[in-house]
Amino acid sequence: LDHIKHIIYDKYFRRNKTMSNSIAIDGPAGAGKSTIAKNLAREIGYMYVDTGAMYRAIAYYMVKNGIDPEDEAKVSAALKSVDVMLDYSEDDGQIVLLNGENVNAYIRTPEVSAAASATAKYTAVREKLLDLQRNIAAKKNVIMDGRDIGTNVLPDAMIKIYLTASADCRAERRFLELKEKGMDADLESIKADIIARDEQDMNRPIAPLKQAPDAILVDTSDMNIEQVVARLEEIYRNGR
Ligand code: DC
Repeated sequence: LDHIKHIIYDKYFRRNKTMSNSIAIDGPAGAGKSTIAKNLAREIGYMYVDTGAMYRAIAYYMVKNGIDPEDEAKVSAALKSVDVMLDYSEDDGQIVLLNGENVNAYIRTPEVSAAASATAKYTAVREKLLDLQRNIAAKKNVIMDGRDIGTNVLPDAMIKIYLTASADCRAERRFLELKEKGMDADLESIKADIIARDEQDMNRPIAPLKQAPDAILVDTSDMNIEQVVARLEEIYRNGR
């Protein structure tokens, strides 16, 4: 019976899915990747995968356990106690499970953002997440966003987008988003955080953020959400 199950499973996925159906969206912090990707996923019936949340979960573990994100040896050693998994719910969308616990509520702080960018430089951290990301894309039609999706995780993606906007623009959007949620926010410090993270994510030796040669550049500085989603849907339908 197991053998037959295997054959059916295999046929089902071979017929319905290859890795190359995927859509890769990369870009700097605050470019609106997750908002846009979520909307597009809904429009075209894809599953949205936020890889930044996985890096954030690892960073959160380090912060919570007093492990210095700048200490590569300690971070790498601690990884053996870290298990990251994704789950999905109707209400919350993607849920990141850190050792079985839903950590969505804890991974968006400025401290975890900075720690995620720091720990994402390390080979051990990236290797831990790479297989997980590829396995998800092998099973489902995904829109996956991050920094190295088109260049490294899914080099055969059907469509690659490099989504960006000026640093001023990205900082202002994040500022307004926080204010809307009634949270305290300082535009200058948000901008400084964004620039520091860009710097680190673009200049690390392993899988740095950069536009893949076959990625389509979408600069959203002068676009609203609807316009960006429409542009990406057009790229999805026409390939350009
Ligand atoms: O997309 P985000 O802002 O949630 O990502 C948080 C950090 O994780 C980002 O500053 C760098 C790292 N990251 C990465 O190195 N590679 C990815 N594919 C996604 C995120």
